[in-house]
Amino acid sequence: MEVKKIFLPESELPRQWYNILADMPTPMEPPLHPGTGQPVGPDDLAPIFPMPLIEQEVSQERWIDIPEEVLEKYLLWRPTPLYRAYGLEKYLDTPAKIYFKNEGVSPAGSHKPNTALAQAYYNKISGTKRITTETGAGQWGSALSFCCALFGLECKVYMVKVSYQQKPYRRIMMETWGANCVASPSTETKAGQQILAENPDSPGSLGIAISEAVEAAVMDDDAKYSLGSVLNHVMLHQTVNGLECQKQMAIAGDYPDVIIGCAGGGSNFAGNCLPFVRDKINGKEIDIIAVEPASCPTMTRGPFAYDFGDTVQMTPLLPMYTLGHSFVPAPIHAGGLRYHGMAPIISQLVMDGIIRAEAIPQMETFKAGITFARTEGFISAPETNHAVAMVIREAIKAKEEGKEKVILFNWSGHGLVDMAAYEAYLAGKLSDYELPADEIHRALADIEPLPKPKQYKPGTV
Ligand SMILES: Cc1ncc(COP(=O)(O)O)c(C=O)c1O
Repeated sequence: MEVKKIFLPESELPRQWYNILADMPTPMEPPLHPGTGQPVGPDDLAPIFPMPLIEQEVSQERWIDIPEEVLEKYLLWRPTPLYRAYGLEKYLDTPAKIYFKNEGVSPAGSHKPNTALAQAYYNKISGTKRITTETGAGQWGSALSFCCALFGLECKVYMVKVSYQQKPYRRIMMETWGANCVASPSTETKAGQQILAENPDSPGSLGIAISEAVEAAVMDDDAKYSLGSVLNHVMLHQTVNGLECQKQMAIAGDYPDVIIGCAGGGSNFAGNCLPFVRDKINGKEIDIIAVEPASCPTMTRGPFAYDFGDTVQMTPLLPMYTLGHSFVPAPIHAGGLRYHGMAPIISQLVMDGIIRAEAIPQMETFKAGITFARTEGFISAPETNHAVAMVIREAIKAKEEGKEKVILFNWSGHGLVDMAAYEAYLAGKLSDYELPADEIHRALADIEPLPKPKQYKPGTV
């Protein structure tokens, strides 16, 4: 019988995270202060984040120790298994070998607790009482609620309204772990009130929810804000995944030719691929593909520019691919991929040609999710289905080329709380969204006056 799952013993849990900033071929341009336009310093970030996370955000150390208390709690679900997708390979009749890293086994059901746990820990030891955050589909909000519960912290979550309405069960998960969750835009913050005054029917967006959560943290001395993706320290914490995966691929006796992950803010993709990116920088040949929704084509169509991380322009300006901070993406079911920007680390690696990006429309992703469920059993989150769809494209390409490629992908989460989306798909009620080019042009006009990075590159929308 062939080996289906590759487990690592708990003793093989990585003891350090990998910091790609030590190995970036092109140094990253700094975040800028939203008021002065000057590079931000640690003191500018201190009202929002605890100091150990600010230090990690700018650290150039290649390896950063994972604290004992975090390691202990990682053991609740880590190391996660690596699977060989024999069923999918057979169905596609492909010579490709397909592996997937199952991050859906965490208590919250996705990769998000890898950083939520670390962030809750550093907040706890820094004296924070309460953490505020945003969430799209509810995966990040539920992960942070779970990890705040483990460290006895209060948690306040602003959940994008369209997802709050589509996905009540993730809100209930958050409440089960003791968090307080409201639909964003809410009337509780000035940012929310401003958006509602302009558009009372706003479906919300991650950019708006971030504005609310940052404002709530800044107004409260006992609170700090936490971001589930995009920032360097989030990418860092997620590398525990890729480091495990490297050991598991070695046990399988294979090395990936292709690595695929879906990308909203970039964290699950980064977590799985960055240790392999290091190999690529050192000479390995790997095709590393970030997959985004065709209706929110940040990396494939947006400019590389400085932009705010949030809608109401409170965060520092980040050098990244962006569709403009005021862009509100179509209400696709992959709520966690509805973000206007992309992690600066991932953006820079795309700029440098080390990783590439592809955009896939919603219907193809659900079709792929159904194929995966019927061949491998697992029901993926709608975000994860973007990776599955790309895997299917690559496996078919390998067949056409007659190549026995090794494809690795990050199965970022299960979709057991997203069944309303599957119901709509199965009932023929889902569709693709046209790219709202006028809307993107309007949003991009808003970032025109902002400073430009040295490597500024215009988009193609
Ligand atoms: C299951 C799952 N995959 C992927 C993502 C995308 O986020 P990121 O790009 O930060 O991994 C999300 C975001 O909520 C998610 O819930």
